[in-house]
Amino acid sequence: MANSSVAQGAQAPLEKEMARQQRLDEILSSYQGNEEELIPILQQVQQVFGYLPEPAMKKIAKFLKLPESTIFGVGTFYAQFKLVPSGRNIIRVCRGTACHVRGATGILGEVEKQLGIKPGESTSDLEYALEAIACFGSCALAPVMVIGNNVYGRMTPAKVKEVLANVGAER
Ligand code: FES
Repeated sequence: MANSSVAQGAQAPLEKEMARQQRLDEILSSYQGNEEELIPILQQVQQVFGYLPEPAMKKIAKFLKLPESTIFGVGTFYAQFKLVPSGRNIIRVCRGTACHVRGATGILGEVEKQLGIKPGESTSDLEYALEAIACFGSCALAPVMVIGNNVYGRMTPAKVKEVLANVGAER
């Protein structure tokens, strides 16, 4: 179940930050510096950092020769962009009808208890973010919890503990 983001987490923080800065420079150098490139640049930068850090937005403004307020305006306007860091492992708990009927509230409650966060929040070490989602399309497996590309079906509170322990062990 190991994935690249787990592998990245093993890097020292400084090393990781330097790699991200280098990636940011690479992204910018792959563009011409035209205004209409703003959205794709923001999308790529968010993929690297997991959100849009202020220094990166300032750098983008300089690169595109646009006022910083324009970059921040676009970053706040579109729901796809995040201006604050989010946990590395995004835990999504389905609250669709089928999952609700089969105990999604208890699953969500157990995740909240284990991580000490509510939907929309991240843990202080930014390892986990929690989201409550609408039907994930795997109703036959209800109740469902999703972490990255992994779908965990027929969840119980006991299984929540097990799954979270395994995610933690992979770090
Ligand atoms: S209601 Fe949860 S997957 Fe459909």
